[in-house]
Amino acid sequence: MNRRKAQLLSIALAIGVLALTLAACGASPASSDQKASGSYATGSLMQVHENGQLDGVEDYSNKLCLSCHPRSAIVEANADYGGREGFNPHSSHNAAGDCISCHSVEGESVLTCNECHDAPLPDGWVSAERGSGPLHKLFS
Ligand code: HEC
Ligand code: HEC
Ligand code: HEC
Repeated sequence: MNRRKAQLLSIALAIGVLALTLAACGASPASSDQKASGSYATGSLMQVHENGQLDGVEDYSNKLCLSCHPRSAIVEANADYGGREGFNPHSSHNAAGDCISCHSVEGESVLTCNECHDAPLPDGWVSAERGSGPLHKLFS
């Protein structure tokens, strides 16, 4: 076999191995590539949904989230959050609004309660800036 043919053959082999590797990952190539390159922040929705549950979603409505995570389950999971009795990001005096107001789709998730409180942060999360919410705007 001449040199050119040998080169082509080795390229074809390399592509075959790559395809097999991607197939072995199970997920779609695009999202597994992005995960491998770390482009989703720790604790973001894309990062925690490892099995592509949110692939192709365009409207991150509360209704969508609650269809897989019933309200009772998330309220129970975060009762006495961070060891603070009665403190629960999923059930509080402050209408917390949209799920994605805290849970970022791709970037850093934000604990909006910490605009006023100082509850501990999960890995990769940040606190909302002090005084960023509507209540404070009323008094400023
Ligand atoms: C199609 C079902 C489905 C939908 C829709 C969905 N999730 Fe999930 N979610 C899961 C599953 C299953 C897991 C467990 C992780 C895994 O296996 O990928 C999970 C994991 C999570 C976690 C991490 C759980 C942990 O133990 O740390 C959070 C937070 C979360 N989801 C929030 C949301 C929010 C907010 C939305 C709406 C934008 C949402 N999910 C929409 C199925 C879903
Ligand atoms: C005020 C901020 C905030 C809002 C709003 C919020 N969450 Fe969360 N959520 C959190 C925090 C903080 C955690 C703990 C994350 C961790 O430990 O990694 C959490 C954890 C979760 C988990 C994992 C629970 C477990 O099993 O440990 C799910 C699922 C989840 N949230 C779904 C939702 C859904 C659905 C909504 C909207 C209905 C929502 N969240 C709204 C702050 C919020
Ligand atoms: C705009 C400011 C603000 C935001 C945002 C806010 N809170 Fe509060 N919260 C307060 C104030 C003020 C009190 C009353 C404090 C007191 O009486 O000492 C309070 C009291 C509480 C208490 C009872 C007292 C305590 O500290 O144990 C809980 C529990 C609580 N908040 C949870 C939450 C949770 C969970 C969130 C996020 C979903 C949240 N708060 C968001 C201002 C806020």
